[in-house]
Amino acid sequence: MSTVEAIRYEEGVLSLLDQRALPQEETWLQIQDPGAAAQAIRDMVVRGAPAIAITAAYGLALAVRCGFDRSEARALLLASRPTAVNLRWALERLDAVADGAVEAEAQAIHAEDARICRTLGDVGADVVPEGGLYTHCNTGALATGGWGTALGVVRSLHAQGRPVHVYAGETRPYLQGSRLTAWEMVQEGIPCTLVTDSMAGAVMASGRIHSVVVGCDRVAANGDVANKIGTYGLAVLARYHGLPFYVAMPLSTLDEQCRSGEDIPLEERDPSEVAGFRSERTAPGGVGVWNPSFDVTPADLVTGWITEQGLWRPG
Ligand code: MRU
Repeated sequence: MSTVEAIRYEEGVLSLLDQRALPQEETWLQIQDPGAAAQAIRDMVVRGAPAIAITAAYGLALAVRCGFDRSEARALLLASRPTAVNLRWALERLDAVADGAVEAEAQAIHAEDARICRTLGDVGADVVPEGGLYTHCNTGALATGGWGTALGVVRSLHAQGRPVHVYAGETRPYLQGSRLTAWEMVQEGIPCTLVTDSMAGAVMASGRIHSVVVGCDRVAANGDVANKIGTYGLAVLARYHGLPFYVAMPLSTLDEQCRSGEDIPLEERDPSEVAGFRSERTAPGGVGVWNPSFDVTPADLVTGWITEQGLWRPG
């Protein structure tokens, strides 16, 4: 398994590695009620589609344990972030479970996700070419129950002793690539080169990479992919350069209720994330800012959707 973990649960206490503070500090926050779990998701203490689903599941377990109104807690958790469907998937799975079994089911969702990522990573390692691999955002152990999705493919290639060199796009404005992906790769000793997002075209033109592999927050029935802002541009660049563009996707990320990407709700976050970083402002006051957190990549630009059950195809 990977050495990195982001979520721990023991005896009614949920501990989350505060991803906002990485890579400078490794601080764990203790969460003891569903309101604090929802806030941790909203505030990006924990992020990444499977990780927020696991956190929401534990949030519901805390609600039951502390005697909170279960349906109010469910609504609060569901509303915490809109794009990643895994969160809704986990809460729907718990709908079928009696109060006394919610905690065990949340733990099962957590453990299963780590296993699913491991399988998905191995599936991906069989199809993704060896060598340079460009990725975006953070899709590793920090974003999942363990191992990761797109970074799970990287971990599987590395575990099999096959050559892989990650090119991590820094992922403006929240810097999940430079703060989190680069940190995970350094922890694991996997070769990694950090580039700014604006270097992606130049990296592809340089011949250094052989594939682009990203994760996803929601995949529509027709195969359109919602993922971190910037993914769409990478897919267009990959097509131009003749590079395969793979999406690593646990099946909990598939939303057949969405016919196409047009049906996927795309979160917009606070303008301050674009106008500065942490407490430092980098743009002049008074300028307009647009901060969509996700974009949609049309299915036509996707070479393959890698899942724990093999390659998926839109029906
Ligand atoms: O805003 P974030 O950091 O939650 O966005 C995360 C992503 O876009 C990831 O690519 C996606 O959730 C897949 S994580 C396995």
